[in-house]
Amino acid sequence: EEIDHKDICMEWEAILPTLPKQKGWMADHLVQYQGVWLSPSGLKGVMLARHHFTCLPTDIILSTSPKAGTTWFKALLFTIMNRRIYQFSSHPLLTTNPHDLVLFIEAMFDQAPTASPVKDGISSSRLLSTHMPYSLLPNSVKTSCCRIVYVCRDPKDALISQWQYLKKLRPKEMPPLPLEEAFGLFCDGVSHFGPFWDHALGYYGASRESPQKVLVLTYEAMMTDPAFNIKRVADFVGHPLDPEEESGGVVERMVSLCSFENLSRLEVNKGGVQQFTAQFMVPNSNFFRKGQIGDWRNHLTPTMAESLNKITKERFGGPDLEF
Ligand code: A3P
Repeated sequence: EEIDHKDICMEWEAILPTLPKQKGWMADHLVQYQGVWLSPSGLKGVMLARHHFTCLPTDIILSTSPKAGTTWFKALLFTIMNRRIYQFSSHPLLTTNPHDLVLFIEAMFDQAPTASPVKDGISSSRLLSTHMPYSLLPNSVKTSCCRIVYVCRDPKDALISQWQYLKKLRPKEMPPLPLEEAFGLFCDGVSHFGPFWDHALGYYGASRESPQKVLVLTYEAMMTDPAFNIKRVADFVGHPLDPEEESGGVVERMVSLCSFENLSRLEVNKGGVQQFTAQFMVPNSNFFRKGQIGDWRNHLTPTMAESLNKITKERFGGPDLEF
C-alpha cells in the first residue's frame, strides 16, 4: 500500500505539467483531466481515490456538484439512515459538522492510504460522499450495486455560491476574482469538477439507465417540498419510513434538524474547521452562507442570467432538468 500510494503521487506529479490549464478560482489554476476541471491537489485526491477506494454493495454515496447543497444533504442522509440509532435531543449533528460525519472519498486517502472511511457504530451501510463526475468514479463504484444520490442545483445559484465561497479561501496575496471572470470561466465549463452541465448529465444518464442505482434530486426540490423528497430518499436508500414514524412527525423533525436555520446557529458550525487535506482547510462557517433559492438575482445581470439559462436549456434539453 505504501509503495502504491507513492506511485500514484509520482504519477500525479508527472502528469500535472502535461495537462491543459486555465485560470483558477481559488488558487493559480485549474487543470483538465479526462475532460474534467480540477484543482491540482483535487486531481491528486481523485487519482488516489480511483486507485484505493473499494466500494461495497451496501454503500450509499452522495454525489454533488460543488455548492449544490452537499453539507445539507450530508446532514439529511445521515439523519435519515441513522434515525433509529440517535435521539433528536442528543443527535450527533448538534455537535458535529456534517463533513465530519460523512467523508469525501477523494479526501480520504490524502495522508493515510489505509484510513477507514467509516465511523464505527453507525448504520450498517456506509455513507460517503464525492464531487467526482460519474465518468471519473472509481470502477468499483460503477460496477457494484451501491446506491448513489446525486444532487444538482440551479447553475446560476451554484455559480454565485461557488464564487463567494472560493473568494474567501483565496490566498490574501492574490487579487480577488471578479464576478465577470468567474462567470466567463463557469460558462466555459472551467469550474471545480466542471463543466457543471457535464457533471449533471453524467449522473442523469446513469440514473436513466439504472434508476435503482442513481437517484437524482435538486436543491430546489428539497427546499420546496422537503417531506416528499425525504421520503423518496428514505425509500431509495432502503430505510423507508413506517406509518408510525410518519404520523409521529419524524419527517418534520428531520427537516428542522437539518435546516439552514438550525445547523448554521450551532456552535460547532460557527467555529471549527474542516481539514480536508494537508493543504485544504475550510472554516465550518463557510459552508453556511444564505441557504436560499435565487440569490443569483443579487449578483448576476439579466444578460448574464439569460446566457446561463440558454446554455442550460441547450445542454439539458427536456423537462427533467429545469431551473
Ligand atoms: P449559498 O452560498 O447559496 O448560501 P455545499 O454544501 O455543496 O458546499 O453548498 C453550500 C450551499 O448550501 C450554500 O449556498 C449554503 O448556504 C447552502 N446550505 C448549507 N447548509 C444548508 C442547509 N442546511 N439548508 C439549505 N442550504 C444550505
